[in-house]
Amino acid sequence: MKEIRKVIIPVAGWGTRSLPASKNIPKEMLPVYNKPVIQYVVEEAIKSGVTDVVFVTNRDKSVIEDHFDYNLQLEGVLERSGKLDKLKTVRDVAEMVNIMSVRQKKQLGLGHAVLCARPLITDEPFAIMVGDDLMFGGVPGVQQLIDVAMRENMPVIGVMEVPRDKVSRYGIIDGEEVSPGVYRIKDMVEKPDVDKAPSQLAIVGRYVLTPDVFDYLEKVTPGVGGEIQLTDALQALARDRGMMAVKMTGIRFDAGDWADYLSANIYFGLQDESLRYGLLERLKQFVQFS
Ligand code: G1P
Repeated sequence: MKEIRKVIIPVAGWGTRSLPASKNIPKEMLPVYNKPVIQYVVEEAIKSGVTDVVFVTNRDKSVIEDHFDYNLQLEGVLERSGKLDKLKTVRDVAEMVNIMSVRQKKQLGLGHAVLCARPLITDEPFAIMVGDDLMFGGVPGVQQLIDVAMRENMPVIGVMEVPRDKVSRYGIIDGEEVSPGVYRIKDMVEKPDVDKAPSQLAIVGRYVLTPDVFDYLEKVTPGVGGEIQLTDALQALARDRGMMAVKMTGIRFDAGDWADYLSANIYFGLQDESLRYGLLERLKQFVQFS
């Protein structure tokens, strides 16, 4: 398989799980510690060797693209006031990656969002990252998939084991483990009832795919929730040409889930030596008074 240079990041969703915080701020721009959620996702892509990001946006999301662009007015203020470390911080974000974007004019589902990016993906394999899923620790998330995709010369999706009561929130795969943590996919189903789920291996928003998926997406009819589901296109593609899944390692936070979102803030706060002690003291105090 050719090198993976591009990643599609769909960011056109309403973010209803994050209301009211996301009423006028895209959920992807909510901060986790000192950066917006989307910056962690883009940084994972970059650490995995990606150079171009394709955001699938809507009319209210241009602030996401702006975050990865220069802000000359702010830079001027920082420069004149001698805040050179802050100046570097904001410039670094503008320089980290090439940005492209395409509008998803109607929110018809994740599969539809990916299809909107087709004109920006030429004949090359690419990654998809769901912006709600944050992955940390060890080998960068997308890199884990790329390693298997290169070795097996096949599309790969990332999975993690989830508790039984959560399977109906995810795409679930049925796979045969061919080497530790690597599965040949036999089938997959979007948001199954727990009794019908083929396993507890959930798709966690990381994919390395080949452009033939677009032909399958063109043909997919609305599935669960009346949406054009990426999982439905992948199910057909897996049957026809084969697909692998890799059980991802590291910690995952679902930024749209408040418990995970708050945990992610604490996790990153604790990584900062200057905050660590004070934060732990406050947490102990909270436990005592709650
Ligand atoms: C999407 C996918 C689903 C996957 C999930 C991971 O669902 O359709 O297969 O398990 O992302 O976050 P959504 O969360 O958009 O409903």
